[in-house]
Amino acid sequence: MTTLVSAWTGARKRLEAAGIDSPAIDARLLLEVAADVTRTHIVTDPHRELTPEQDATFDDYLARRERREPVSHIIGRKGFWKIMLGVNAHVLTPRPDTEVIVDLVLAAYPEERRFSFLDLGVGSGAIALAILAERPHAKALGIDISEEALAVARDNAANLGLDKHLALLRGDWTEGMAEASFDLVVSNPPYIASEEIATLDPEVRDHEPRLALDGGPDGLDAYRQLAPVCLRVLRPDGLLAFEIGHTQAEAVSAILKDAGAEDIRVHCDLAARDRVVTAAKKPLGNPFPNR
Ligand SMILES: C[S@@+](CC[C@H](N)C(=O)[O-])C[C@H]1O[C@@H](n2cnc3c(N)ncnc32)[C@H](O)[C@@H]1O
Repeated sequence: MTTLVSAWTGARKRLEAAGIDSPAIDARLLLEVAADVTRTHIVTDPHRELTPEQDATFDDYLARRERREPVSHIIGRKGFWKIMLGVNAHVLTPRPDTEVIVDLVLAAYPEERRFSFLDLGVGSGAIALAILAERPHAKALGIDISEEALAVARDNAANLGLDKHLALLRGDWTEGMAEASFDLVVSNPPYIASEEIATLDPEVRDHEPRLALDGGPDGLDAYRQLAPVCLRVLRPDGLLAFEIGHTQAEAVSAILKDAGAEDIRVHCDLAARDRVVTAAKKPLGNPFPNR
């Protein structure tokens, strides 16, 4: 007979033995889904029995986690900012680091503001949907080169009731978007140097899409491509925000400066590491000559 508490304790030990970094948290998250309970049930009703099916499901989840499949892939979801997102192996599992962009955008655009924005490399929809969930007058376009990722973003938008606010398009960055213009561009592009990918944890290296990780030889390929095109599609006075790897602030700032961006600023994450670079497009200025 397996109870919530015996299942959790056993799972914790099993994951610990497999070298998993956070065995207690992972065991709890997997148990919540396998046994269809909340964290509170595990604490307040610890002797509740699992059905044989729940027991078997939990065992399967643990075996997958032992093989270093990420928890988010096993349970098919991940909390980000204040929303819950469906995820699978076709999208980057949204990271807490990426919440820095959301925080900056929400601070710069008050709730009543009407604005349009572009999310380049939209993936699961994390950034766009977290912003849209709190800015009812905003509209967004999310672009991704991966059709499978767009399917995930589409489902997430529908589940959050935000599908009327988020348009999704398959594309290679902004290719073919000559006419469009936006008040804001956000992007968390792939920024890991190709050679570094082999050194990452197996959860990332073996289970997350390479398209979401690989930033070319020095990790900066996407920024070089994106900086000029973002400035092109931004309206005068528009803003852009790029997530960066924590060692890339100087290089990305220089790329933006070369592309003609102004007011370039670097922002830190909660671990006090450089995480986001923001910039502004040059204002149009007075179009009439002095007399
Ligand atoms: C680091 S993930 C970010 C996903 C999501 N925005 C987030 O922050 O969780 C980068 C995304 O860029 C997409 N991508 C990579 N190359 C692209 C390209 N050339 N054009 C459009 N999207 C691309 C990937 O498919 C992936 O979904």
